[in-house]
Amino acid sequence: MSTTPEMSPLRLREVTIPNRVWMSPMAQYAAGPDGKPTDWHLVHYGARTIGGVGLIMIEANAVGPLHRTTSADLGIWNAEQAAAHRRLTTFIRARGTVAGIQLQAAGRKGSHQLPWVGAGQNGSVDVADDGWQTFGPSAVPFGDLTAPREAGRAHIDEVVEAFAHATRMAHLAGYQVVEIQAAHGYLLHEFLSPLSNHRTDEYGGSRQNRMRLALRVAGAVRAAFPPEKAVFVRITATDWVEGGLTIDDAMAFGKELAALGIDLLDVTSGLVVRDQAARPPTRAGVHVDFAATLKDATGLAVATVGQIDNLTVAGELIADGWTDAVMIGRPLLRDPYFALRERPADKAAWPHQYQRAL
Ligand SMILES: Cc1cc2nc3c(=O)[nH]c(=O)nc-3n(C[C@H](O)[C@H](O)[C@H](O)COP(=O)(O)O)c2cc1C
Repeated sequence: MSTTPEMSPLRLREVTIPNRVWMSPMAQYAAGPDGKPTDWHLVHYGARTIGGVGLIMIEANAVGPLHRTTSADLGIWNAEQAAAHRRLTTFIRARGTVAGIQLQAAGRKGSHQLPWVGAGQNGSVDVADDGWQTFGPSAVPFGDLTAPREAGRAHIDEVVEAFAHATRMAHLAGYQVVEIQAAHGYLLHEFLSPLSNHRTDEYGGSRQNRMRLALRVAGAVRAAFPPEKAVFVRITATDWVEGGLTIDDAMAFGKELAALGIDLLDVTSGLVVRDQAARPPTRAGVHVDFAATLKDATGLAVATVGQIDNLTVAGELIADGWTDAVMIGRPLLRDPYFALRERPADKAAWPHQYQRAL
């Protein structure tokens, strides 16, 4: 049995994650119109489960039909969807891997085309073409997408309830971890950032007001999930753009999340406005410093994501206390067995069925 730092278990509440190399949530745009997982999802996530990651974070799942980014998003807003998700959680958990699911409201990035159709997020789908009305903190569009409507009080309350209900469905589906998407320019991030939130009521203006919706959601999700299961928040460390969120804002937000009983911050950045400068720069381990800062400031466990493709380095980062885990994205799209291949000496980590190949 390997004892390298990245392969050591991490316990959060009653959830023991067998190692610290985790699959980052990555939308597949492969759901049916009913938002249920398809055979694609079972094969895709099944292969990465066999590939030895400690936790699979199933891609962004909409918390309601109007909260989808595209018509092919996964959903977790009703019991039929939860039942369909059981196929995934059953397979993942049977191998000892932890099953997590990301919960998302798309906000002003909703109702767009699939990324490989037309111009992707450049292309809104109109209501007349089976799209749907989007809502944001303010009636300000993301790039060329159709402008959202400013969310009213009733809509804000509905968002909180939708996240809580989706959390109950995620529990029914057998997930052990839920992750609240509060980054990458989707609804909760849009409320957090002054670049997209121009409100003058109690949900806009001061940092405390801009945090209000995300904190209400975090409190509601935590309360809706059994105490033995873990809640993560995907948090933006910086908007990278003048006038946007900074690491100070992230630290203040993280401290409030800690007080609400959130278990782990999954640290990323950027993408709240359509501007090349608002994308994370190309740099290995681009969010590692931010993760360490947030770990120190909040006392919470952290994961870092972005441009990590060397598990020996990841192990050193974990051993030196920069991060508790790494989320791996694109390397796992290129190679489902990335986590196994990076440690070829550890034959026992491979499934018995494959060991004659080693
Ligand atoms: C195809 C694709 C889909 C993605 N979908 C999501 C998503 O559903 N939720 C999310 O938080 N991030 C999403 N991301 C971002 C990844 O989770 C990750 O943060 C990013 O790819 C950087 O990590 P990497 O350098 O290891 O790929 C997606 C990325 C890709 C490439």
